[in-house]
Amino acid sequence: MADRAEGVYIWDTAGKRYLDGSGGACVVSIGHCVPEILDAIQRQFNRVPFVHSSHFTNPAVCELGDLLHQMAPDASFTRTYFLSGGSEAVETAVKLMRQYWRETGKPDKYKVISRWSSFHGNTTGALALGGHTARRSHYLPLFQHTPHIEPAYCYRCSFKQTPETCDLQCADELERCIKHEGPESVGAFIAEPVVGSTAGAVVPKDGYWQRIRQICDAYDVKLIVDEVMTGIGRCGRNFGIETWGVVPDFIVLAKGLSSGYTPLGAVMVKDEIHAAIKEGSGAFVHGHTYCQNPLSTAIGAAVLRYIQKHALVERSMRMGSYLMQKLASLNALDIVGDIRGLGLFAGIELVRDKASRAWFDRGLKVNLQVANQAFEHGLITYPGNGGIDGIHGDHILLAPPFTISEAQIDELVGILHRAIGTVQDQL
Ligand SMILES: Cc1ncc(COP(=O)(O)O)c(C=O)c1O
Repeated sequence: MADRAEGVYIWDTAGKRYLDGSGGACVVSIGHCVPEILDAIQRQFNRVPFVHSSHFTNPAVCELGDLLHQMAPDASFTRTYFLSGGSEAVETAVKLMRQYWRETGKPDKYKVISRWSSFHGNTTGALALGGHTARRSHYLPLFQHTPHIEPAYCYRCSFKQTPETCDLQCADELERCIKHEGPESVGAFIAEPVVGSTAGAVVPKDGYWQRIRQICDAYDVKLIVDEVMTGIGRCGRNFGIETWGVVPDFIVLAKGLSSGYTPLGAVMVKDEIHAAIKEGSGAFVHGHTYCQNPLSTAIGAAVLRYIQKHALVERSMRMGSYLMQKLASLNALDIVGDIRGLGLFAGIELVRDKASRAWFDRGLKVNLQVANQAFEHGLITYPGNGGIDGIHGDHILLAPPFTISEAQIDELVGILHRAIGTVQDQL
């Protein structure tokens, strides 16, 4: 039972303290209970807590839109649509993409290609795009046809390559898939710049994203990057995709956009997308009760101002390097197979055998065992499974608030080391 929180710590009602090593589910970026956010909530509450977007726009929504425009990877990202979370934002990006193609005279383009071992949300449209077999299987009959390609997962390359022999076949898969499906029917490709919850901070090889962009351009396919986990500084840059200098067409955001102070998601689009709809039919056929919500966007704006004021994106990069350096000590443990990540976004893959990279039996729930041990010792992590083939694979995801100190990272790694060591001894 959570009782209170401050900075990187949460206390339960029995008074036990937990270090929030995963920011919940990779959400909390500026730390808990920041007074400036409460001030922003009070100011907006006293001004206007709610108006419906069919009646009014509001200054908070404009301010957050402007801040995101300034942070964007390219000046052409002039428009943002605000929602209540990541799944809603993914669905909104897909609908925008679809309407864009109808407005621009290519009404046959509707398919969205995505990747296995990915996650885009739990509403049926977003879940269909995700590539986590165990999460999808109950609901398969409800899904549209959504072609999936192999992930860019260097530790377990689907094409049996090593970093030395790799010629980015995982990116070329997109071209093959577009050809098989028929380029005239493919509207977009969606992927996470660094895979989060389904595989544990899987970073693609340099060159992957550049190749993906080239293929999308060659076949007139829009690129949607799902930055729900990686965006707003998590990977040490404003947006994870900027690591590779690639400019997408749509950016999906949530989680760190409000640092968990309110449910908030967003879709940023290039001016071209907005203009096509505005000058075409004139209206995006969409809307939710809480889209463009004044209170939520005021909170988002306060979070972004706080991140800028305290240079927290740069801090995420700096503390991320320190975290990776410290996590290297876990390599001494037999069941630690791979340690990876970017900025303050790190994954530890757990294996039965280091040399062969053999995975654990799913029934052992090794990821949960480690997370439970860590929790016992006062550390919150985000365990996951199914990264290898949708069913198998165990990992632990770490995504602490950007405000974490070196001493707190030492504490985090110390507890995690003990937790993995204990599980290893018990297996
Ligand atoms: C990459 C990604 N996209 C979308 C979502 C869905 O976001 P929400 O849970 O806010 O609907 C998540 C949630 O974990 C995510 O990690």
